[in-house]
Amino acid sequence: MSENFYQQTTAEPKGAFDVSLRPPVFSEFIGQEKVKDRLLLMVEAARKRGDVLDHVLLSGPPGLGKTTLANIIARASGAQLHTTSGPQIEKAGDLAGVLTNLQKGDVLFIDEIHRLHPAIEEYLYPAMEDFRLDIIIDSGPSARSIQLNLPRFTLVGATTRSGMLTAPLRSRFGLVNRLDYYTHEELAQIVERSAGLLDIPVTPEGALQIAARSRGTPRICNALLRWVRDFAQVRSDGTITGPIADQALHMIEIDDDGLDEMDKRLLEAIIYKFQGGPVGLSSLAVAVGEDASTLEEVHEPFLILQGFLQRTPRGRVALPAAYAKIGATPPGDQQQLL
Ligand SMILES: Nc1ncnc2c1ncn2[C@@H]1O[C@H](COP(=O)(O)OP(=O)(O)OP(=O)(O)O)[C@@H](O)[C@H]1O
Ligand SMILES: [Mg+2]
Repeated sequence: MSENFYQQTTAEPKGAFDVSLRPPVFSEFIGQEKVKDRLLLMVEAARKRGDVLDHVLLSGPPGLGKTTLANIIARASGAQLHTTSGPQIEKAGDLAGVLTNLQKGDVLFIDEIHRLHPAIEEYLYPAMEDFRLDIIIDSGPSARSIQLNLPRFTLVGATTRSGMLTAPLRSRFGLVNRLDYYTHEELAQIVERSAGLLDIPVTPEGALQIAARSRGTPRICNALLRWVRDFAQVRSDGTITGPIADQALHMIEIDDDGLDEMDKRLLEAIIYKFQGGPVGLSSLAVAVGEDASTLEEVHEPFLILQGFLQRTPRGRVALPAAYAKIGATPPGDQQQLL
């Protein structure tokens, strides 16, 4: 297996900008206090026992810090980190290659672990439980199974879809650590931290403006910060103030709640094309021209959290806030008018 098998990461936009802003240690990782406390405790306990850290599962929407935490965990336990992802492991041999490359105590990070092929998952069970790999070599009458002992290692799995994880896989992780959307205050701290690292002058109001429009997501606040910095340098003296951030974000059509084009298109489709719902996910995906899983993983969780949308057994329904957002009249009010 080639060296860069480990280095390739998945469809994650990871420019130099992003990487340099990644907090390297728990103390610099802002928010997610419960998850952080638990992980710190696990790392500490493993160190006291002189043992390898238990397997860890991290779940949550994109850009909330799963990969960042995997890096922090490895560093805090003084372990070497190896990175791969569910879709990258196509054959049992790929997994065997990854596992047999590990040294005692290493951290293996499998991103998008819910996308592992079921047949490959089966090989992972004994590896996680007993640090053993059973592989079948040859086929037909000469097929035989050989067992390899693996060094004790820590598996850190990340998923945006913990619901898609099979029960046997999930049960082999001690805890599911669910990351939640960040508060505006936490995001403002992240903006200030990033601005400090990049030498960008920002006022507290400027940081809060960016934070409030970042859909609870650190990756988005860092991306918006970059845009607002450019705007401030060209249209002003370079300092990000509240009004400058506001103008910059209006220019790229990010509204006051952080909703983007696709969010708004989604709400409009439910209200105008499907009479407010309920409408099924696949019909909605066709109507807005976006992949169903992107709608479900990226757009919906935030719209639900903000009270624009509801998921019911019969489909998605627009809530009053959605009508207000796009300036439509809710059905109840229409009846009153008649
Ligand atoms: N708690 C935090 N404090 C400061 N910065 C953070 C925090 N969490 C994430 N970031 C920043 O946000 C960026 C995105 O985080 P990360 O890549 O870890 O997200 P992810 O959950 O792995 O996303 P995906 O599901 O898309 O892989 C990081 O590069 C980092 O700069
Ligand atoms: Mg990631």
